[in-house]
Amino acid sequence: MDIEAIKTQIDSEIQNINSPEELEDFRVRFLGRKGIIAQLTSTIPSLPQEERAAFGQGVNALKNKILSLINEKQKLITARPIQPAVTLCDISMPGIVQDLGHLHPITKVIDEICTIFNRMGFSVVEGPEIETEYNNFTGLNIPLEHPSRDVFDTFYLKLGDRSLLLRSHTSPVQIRVMKSRKAPLAVVVPGRVYRPDAVDASHSFMFHQIEGFMVDENIRFSDLKGVLEALVKAVFGKDIRMRFRPHFFPFTEPSAEVDISCIICKSNQKPDPSSMGAPSDQKRHCSVCGGKGWLEILGSGMIHPNVFKHVGYDFKKYTGFAFGMGIERIAMLKYGIDDIRLFFENDLRFLGQF
Ligand code: PHE
Repeated sequence: MDIEAIKTQIDSEIQNINSPEELEDFRVRFLGRKGIIAQLTSTIPSLPQEERAAFGQGVNALKNKILSLINEKQKLITARPIQPAVTLCDISMPGIVQDLGHLHPITKVIDEICTIFNRMGFSVVEGPEIETEYNNFTGLNIPLEHPSRDVFDTFYLKLGDRSLLLRSHTSPVQIRVMKSRKAPLAVVVPGRVYRPDAVDASHSFMFHQIEGFMVDENIRFSDLKGVLEALVKAVFGKDIRMRFRPHFFPFTEPSAEVDISCIICKSNQKPDPSSMGAPSDQKRHCSVCGGKGWLEILGSGMIHPNVFKHVGYDFKKYTGFAFGMGIERIAMLKYGIDDIRLFFENDLRFLGQF
């Protein structure tokens, strides 16, 4: 075997090796126990004495060359693929936090109040925002000449010859419910109402109310007081005091407006024996109650017999109470908000605080 010829053969063979398996084949063929190097070495004793040393050195050199070629090839084959300069995804980077939405503060207050009434056995009913003149006024014993029926106080809709309007309170749902259900009943009605008021810090042409009413035999004014006291204490805390002021509503008789002790200056919250009846400084300077110490929160009364007549209830058999409160006002007091417009401007700096 010609050592020089083998060298040339090796050089070209090694070029074509691309896998660890091919390289191992190559190694066994040349360096294995029965490989070419072993065969060459085994021929040395049969050579003439004077040729043996040079031939031996040639075989050795060949063996070293093969070893170094295998070594080099091995490095090439096992080297890691080169990383691209820009990777598509860096899993060690912090994620993008998604902003989670949440309920509007008005919705939260509506839910809270409805839950309180649910616990007292009231069911929740909703009515349409577009109402008939009958449900909004006539059925509720509101006479034609009443100022609330004026176009300055109600949004009337011109839809053919029907007398439709945007309801100005949630009380028309009393008519709807009593016309479709028999007593006894206990219902709360949350929803939007509309009045053509100029918008300012405390007025909006659209706001929310919750109506409540209970009808059965022997429902008394004291039932109304008990239910409202439970509500006020659950929403504003057990130290809050409540008072009923005589008032007038066409659909209740007797009627009362309900005030709670001011939750800001707290001056009427508990009797203060040291004040001797004189207003405290805190009370005089309170911007929320204006120094009165009381905040009006709702209108209420015993359902007028004329309303029962309109819905076909026996007014000799049944009595009932009703009340209606503005949600924005409750929310403003609860959260200390001084401008109703904030609820409707969709400013996330405001809404994000709830
Ligand atoms: N509907 C009245 C209002 O909007 C509130 C009210 C409801 C009063 C029920 C008495 C009974 O002012």
